[in-house]
Amino acid sequence: MISKSQDIKMVDLQTQYHHIKDEIDSGIAQVISTGAFVNGPPVKQFAKDLETYLEVAKVVPCGNGTDALQIALMALGLQPGDEVITVAFTFVATAEVIALLGLKPVFVDIDPETFNIDVAQIEAKITEKTKCIIPVHLFGQCSNMEAIMEIANKHNLAVIEDNAQAIGSEYIFEDGTTKKAGAIGHIGTTSFYPSKNLGCYGDGGALFSNDAELGEKIRLIANHGQKVKYHYSEIGVNSRLDSFQAVVLNAKLKHLDDYANKRRAAADYYDNAFANHDAITTPIRSASSTHVFHQYTLLVDGDRDALQATLKEKGIPSMVYYPHPLHLEPAYLGYGYKEGDLPVTEEYAKKVISLPMHTELTEEQLEHITKMVLNSIDA
Ligand SMILES: Cc1ncc(COP(=O)(O)O)c(C=O)c1O
Repeated sequence: MISKSQDIKMVDLQTQYHHIKDEIDSGIAQVISTGAFVNGPPVKQFAKDLETYLEVAKVVPCGNGTDALQIALMALGLQPGDEVITVAFTFVATAEVIALLGLKPVFVDIDPETFNIDVAQIEAKITEKTKCIIPVHLFGQCSNMEAIMEIANKHNLAVIEDNAQAIGSEYIFEDGTTKKAGAIGHIGTTSFYPSKNLGCYGDGGALFSNDAELGEKIRLIANHGQKVKYHYSEIGVNSRLDSFQAVVLNAKLKHLDDYANKRRAAADYYDNAFANHDAITTPIRSASSTHVFHQYTLLVDGDRDALQATLKEKGIPSMVYYPHPLHLEPAYLGYGYKEGDLPVTEEYAKKVISLPMHTELTEEQLEHITKMVLNSIDA
């Protein structure tokens, strides 16, 4: 039996906090005592440290990952009617900001092995209106960035990496060199939503770029398009990371690689427990990316919803990311998609289930979770 004190959570931020409590508590007290709540020293420090970590020229913190995507598209100067290629198997934010700016989301199916955009299907979707590709590094591993950059260069397209789920993962090029996820395209974006691998205690996000001109434009747009106070060179937005959130992120960034190792160890445990089970497909690890396991997502043959209900009864949380492909959601039907257009996306929406994944999972908990999953499936 799992004791009450070992209640299994999808994400356990409280236990994680106890390891970094002193740094966070003193940093927050300092923000209060100095009154530098917005764009204070912790925000500047975080941007600098994240630049070093990601090896990018410019990091611009912002309010959340959705804003980051919107600001990225604004910085590229896309015009209404321009087309942006992305996936329908993602959190809604990726497609939402495209639509919100009057651009057209063009959905490409996913690769059945990695859950990421199927690069073999991108070129067929390119028209003279296509201006940008947004690959989403889903669940913690990079899309095939080498192929994506090749297609983008050939067709003169911009690439925004939606790196909300894969911060810290590394893309491995064919020649063996590596780059951090988000540092390969023209712009990278991320979210620091609490449950993310690098999560704050509220909302937060950031954009990264190695292009100095784009980096400066992003900085201006995130700050009302204001270059000199009360002078506006761009139409912008107000999107800021606050100093409290930066304190949390500064404390956690130092541990990000260790957090990824802990997640990978939990994933290894799951992989071993479910190996060779006929009804379960464990996540396939891409040869061209490290995996930071934002989610540990199984494909289940059979009644996925019944499995989820049984696990819930036994006190095991699970989530379905994502149950409704975006191209078939009412808000996006106007773009002309119908059932059958993205077969892998549609099939996977019915088969995926994500198990508890965080930095604090104990072997006892993992043993209990895997036992319950296997019992439920074999029942
Ligand atoms: C792939 C992806 N893109 C964008 C976002 C949006 O981030 P936020 O919730 O910080 O706006 C998320 C967050 O859930 C995400 O998972």
